[in-house]
Amino acid sequence: MADTEPNPELPIGAEKDPLWYKTAVIYELHVRAFQDSNGDGIGDLPGLISRLPYLKSLGVTCVWLLPIFPSPQRDDGYDIADYYSINPDYGTLEDFRRLVEEAHRLDLRILVELVVNHTSDQHPWFQEARLDPASEKHDWYVWSDTDDRYREARIIFTDTERSNWTWDPLAKKYFWHRFFSHQPDLNYDNPAVQEEILNVMRFWLDQGVDGFRVDAVPYLFEREGTNCENLPETHAFLKQLRATLDREYGPGKMLLAEANQWPADVRKYFGEGDEFHMGFHFPVMPRLFMAIRREERTPIVEIMQQTPEIPDNCQWAIFLRNHDELTLEMVTDEDRDYMYREYAQDPRMRINVGIRRRLAPLMDNGRRSIELLHGLLCSLPGTPVMYYGDELGMGDNIYLGDRNGVRTPMQWTGDRNAGFSRADAARLYAPVISDPVYGYQAINVEAQERSKSSLLNWVRRLLQIRQRYPHFALGTMNFLHPTNLRVLAFTRHHEGQTILVVCNLSRFAQPVELDLSAYEGAVPVELMGGTPFPVITQHLYQLSLGPYMFLWFRLDDAPQGGST
Ligand code: GLC
Ligand code: CA
Repeated sequence: MADTEPNPELPIGAEKDPLWYKTAVIYELHVRAFQDSNGDGIGDLPGLISRLPYLKSLGVTCVWLLPIFPSPQRDDGYDIADYYSINPDYGTLEDFRRLVEEAHRLDLRILVELVVNHTSDQHPWFQEARLDPASEKHDWYVWSDTDDRYREARIIFTDTERSNWTWDPLAKKYFWHRFFSHQPDLNYDNPAVQEEILNVMRFWLDQGVDGFRVDAVPYLFEREGTNCENLPETHAFLKQLRATLDREYGPGKMLLAEANQWPADVRKYFGEGDEFHMGFHFPVMPRLFMAIRREERTPIVEIMQQTPEIPDNCQWAIFLRNHDELTLEMVTDEDRDYMYREYAQDPRMRINVGIRRRLAPLMDNGRRSIELLHGLLCSLPGTPVMYYGDELGMGDNIYLGDRNGVRTPMQWTGDRNAGFSRADAARLYAPVISDPVYGYQAINVEAQERSKSSLLNWVRRLLQIRQRYPHFALGTMNFLHPTNLRVLAFTRHHEGQTILVVCNLSRFAQPVELDLSAYEGAVPVELMGGTPFPVITQHLYQLSLGPYMFLWFRLDDAPQGGST
């Protein structure tokens, strides 16, 4: 088939492993926050290039960059003013191509953002559209003479927006926006818009990227009498996006959907394996935090049981934290109150329908619970997506506006500006964290490299073990049902071998008895240390778990001659 013939332009290896994303470990970072190379206080592409060896040594295989395009930066770059170049603060297109080249040389893949739903109001398309209602660009956006159409569409940024319509005094009409009022939505009923977004995708593929995190995909079309989310028209366009990707760039490129929806609705974004390759598992995320606070496995088990099967060529993206608030849209009102009560006592910690805090502060800096959450991130079905700095236990700054408190400079060393920049501190795009618990003097890469027992080195080992066993990425999952609800236990089965995962969600030691009779005669070998545990018999298998302890076992066959 001509369609799938290898394209000589593809990076080496891409065709060999077209399903690479199923066994990847993704690292999300903001170029602005990672490393400043020229001392202007803003992280940049040359800075990131210089830090690629760090990412390689961490054990991640793919780097997802938050928006790097010219933008007035009122939504940290998700308000795009030009889709076809690089924000000059971050570098040039040439720097970007060098980044891709260097990353590929290290066998790291690069994902960029494809922001399909909206542009900045500063984008020349919108400027033309609002100034001249007769212009071709006018119909690239969604206009109305009244602000009462599509009333069933919810408001997403509840802290800043009162309506999805904003009056434009120049056009003398209302324009439609699902996010900030400076982010007008594109009009997907216009074929020219669809074609332009395909061109944007082509442009970045031509720069060598391996794929895209496609932003805010549920909201592309509007239809009266619906909530304007997950509409059939939206899926039809996304399938066209995928078909274009496959047809023109061959296998090995990847689309990851940001669809903050219930599992059944996210399922539709995988189509029949012909829409997105990956989708974030939004509902499981808050339930991991709920389970650990309630010391009870039910929230995790319930949501995983409601998670539908996905096509073979697809994969879930599992995450703990990201650049946004910990969203609580996919939980019940009662659970939301619980989460706010437990994790966001200070109202400053809340934003929109969520909590704007990093992983370590959410866990009150508890090393064991931070490890347990990483353990879940790496053992639940899907590809782990880590957020920069969480491998160190970086803190946040709830006194910064919007979600900027979780986007502070990466902490490399205990030196000036955390080794992030040589600029005067006042010039940094955001202050470094400097409190006594999470400050860069205490929490930084250099210090953690030196200590074998640091969180950083622990995360490295965890990733190594995960990557040694394809079971975690590719295996089927089955829950065990021990009577002690504080313990979560499940198996991951792949190609004739089983891995057993046992987690104590409680802050106190717990006993557990597991029915492993199906594996009678097998010897569980603990994966971190390689220690064999007592052979499995037909009786309940007893384990004692320390606070927040988790164990991963390979269920090896018993040595010849039966039990020992
Ligand atoms: C996505 C991004 C978020 C941004 C929003 C609007 O949800 O993750 O950071 O604010 O889109 O562009
Ligand atoms: Ca810079």
